[in-house]
Amino acid sequence: MRVGLSFDLKETMAHEAGAPDDMLEEYDSPTTIGYIQRAIEGLGHSTVKLGGGKEFIRNVLNEKVDIVFNIAEGRGTYRSREAQVPSILEMLDIPYVGSDPECLAVCLDKHLTKKLMQMEGIPTPEWRLIANQQELKETVWKGFPFPAIIKPSFEGSSKGIHANSLVDSAAQAAATVSEMLETYRQPVLVEQFIDGDEITVGMLGNSPVKVLGMMKIIPRKQSNRFVYTVEVKRDWKNLVDYECPAHLKEATTKKIAEYSRKTFEMLGCRDFSRIDFRVSADGIPYMLEINPLPGLGDYSDLIIMAVKLGWKHEELIALVFNAALERYPLCVHV
Ligand SMILES: Nc1ncnc2c1ncn2[C@@H]1O[C@H](COP(=O)(O)OP(=O)(O)OP(=O)(O)O)[C@@H](O)[C@H]1O
Ligand SMILES: [Mg+2]
Repeated sequence: MRVGLSFDLKETMAHEAGAPDDMLEEYDSPTTIGYIQRAIEGLGHSTVKLGGGKEFIRNVLNEKVDIVFNIAEGRGTYRSREAQVPSILEMLDIPYVGSDPECLAVCLDKHLTKKLMQMEGIPTPEWRLIANQQELKETVWKGFPFPAIIKPSFEGSSKGIHANSLVDSAAQAAATVSEMLETYRQPVLVEQFIDGDEITVGMLGNSPVKVLGMMKIIPRKQSNRFVYTVEVKRDWKNLVDYECPAHLKEATTKKIAEYSRKTFEMLGCRDFSRIDFRVSADGIPYMLEINPLPGLGDYSDLIIMAVKLGWKHEELIALVFNAALERYPLCVHV
């Protein structure tokens, strides 16, 4: 088969004047594209780089591909940015790896995802959504369970999440939200901070999806105010240890697996994803968010987890690719 690769490369993007230092944090490196290329070519297929943005549109119209391995994060600060490339692929009726536009759009919107989790009875920290400065002025903080974490509502890679995103009072929250509204140009989430183990869960396959593994993210410097900030993710080799399989009480492991499968299925995720939890001191796993387009670089949690479980980087990518092929039986013999 001829497999197209869609992606957004950090090095090809312009850093806008006045934009935050982590503006391009979600985008990928040529090294990551190399891993995907080697994984697919190792299965006996050929690959063609389609890139992202306008270049992707030109290339996908010109190149005849049987299926696309998509890791494009999309452009802008839109809540549907991750759905941009899969939407074009559906319009052109081209099979692709990973979740569909509706799933990607809903999951990038943390507020909407949390509402759906609540409806399904999955614990998620209490939160407020603040869309603009006027709403911020009108926010009534009484009863809100501080400390809280402030984060952009449509981002990933911990964009906007720094040590000062953890706040202890309404006054601190208001100041941080106000600044974030201006800097990240999107609604801001104020979320109850769950002090406890941080667990990320890898999900693989379809009907039924399987839990690939659970990994605990442990700060080297013990703290009851640990936040996996953008700075920590950049310097992960020095600042955190990863424990996989995660040592958890059996009942907690069971609950996390149950919530993860339920969420994957409810949101219609496909092929793979990564789900983040914090487990409170009383053992309740609170789901923070789900990433149906998790990073596949060697610094990405899903890859770190897979390697700890004994897979090679390329093998994990091959498993994801094969999960997609199983959904498109006709591709297999093309
Ligand atoms: N409610 C919370 N309680 C405790 N910690 C939190 C909470 N929300 C976020 N965090 C911390 O901030 C980190 C990043 O938050 P979150 O996963 O929501 O952001 P993200 O940008 O979508 O991350 P990514 O896409 O890289 O997984 C979490 O891994 C966790 O350490
Ligand atoms: Mg996360």
